[in-house]
Amino acid sequence: MQLFSKADELRAWAGERRQRKQRIGFVPTMGNLHAGHHSLIDLARERCDAVVASVFVNPTQFGAGEDFARYPRTPDADAKGLEAHGCDALFLPEVDAIYPFGAGEGVRVRVAQLGEILEGASRPGHFDGVATVVAKLFNLVQPDLAVFGSKDFQQLLVVRRMTVDLAFPIAILGAPIIREPNGLAMSSRNQFLDARQREQASVIHRTLLWMRDRWHGDGRPLAEIESEARDRLGESGLLPDYAVIRRSEDLAEPAPRQSTGLVALIAARLGSVRLIDNLQFDD
Ligand code: PAJ
Repeated sequence: MQLFSKADELRAWAGERRQRKQRIGFVPTMGNLHAGHHSLIDLARERCDAVVASVFVNPTQFGAGEDFARYPRTPDADAKGLEAHGCDALFLPEVDAIYPFGAGEGVRVRVAQLGEILEGASRPGHFDGVATVVAKLFNLVQPDLAVFGSKDFQQLLVVRRMTVDLAFPIAILGAPIIREPNGLAMSSRNQFLDARQREQASVIHRTLLWMRDRWHGDGRPLAEIESEARDRLGESGLLPDYAVIRRSEDLAEPAPRQSTGLVALIAARLGSVRLIDNLQFDD
């Protein structure tokens, strides 16, 4: 696997692959990689001739008081795992390679509305940071395909919309959520939970399943299901931020009897850790 920290070197490598008519797959990450990330590499590997991953803890998507400084950085282990999964190139840029005018300065990409609800409302500016860095990385790598996890469901939608609206000729592939045996969605932030909290956090997945069953089950009003879902999280010691059922297409509220194209989404705090998860109803 080739390692690059300079944008020019990465560009040259990708350009050479393109000239040889190779199909390039790209997996952007913030590192501290686990089986969830590796599954994205595997999908890119199956579909492409050359696979590029990036590891960049993007400062502009963290709000003030969020965990940018303590975000786990494990580049050596990340490189080993990527190589084992057949990744061909790893881009490990410094901040000024991505933000030549300074992080938070220069051009910013904003996905209006879709980027401002749910996660975007709880974390103002978060999706501006995501859309901006992904647009920059897309321009550097110029992949044919980019793979994103549906663990971050709203992020996947934001990236899809940005890709269409800025006319990037890149296919976006959404990948299934990889979970721990108890249902907890894998996340770099799970390592801040102790064994007891990891068990506690499994209530998130159980609540998502419960929301799906209630919606399909007895025709209860949406607001009632959402409110009881928040109570269930609270009873297990989590502090819910939101627990909602939305249209998976655009995260708008569903029609009362809508039965397909839905997703339940939860964000909740456990101690100092903010966890998000979701469940698509028709997958
Ligand atoms: P990061 O949190 O490192 O996640 C990188 C990719 O891995 C994302 O597409 C995410 O949805 C996916 N992923 C994480 N956990 C997963 C799981 N349990 N199952 C399946 N996929 C999972 O998301 C980001 O980084 C950043 O916002 C980024 C897109 C790189 C922009 O900075």
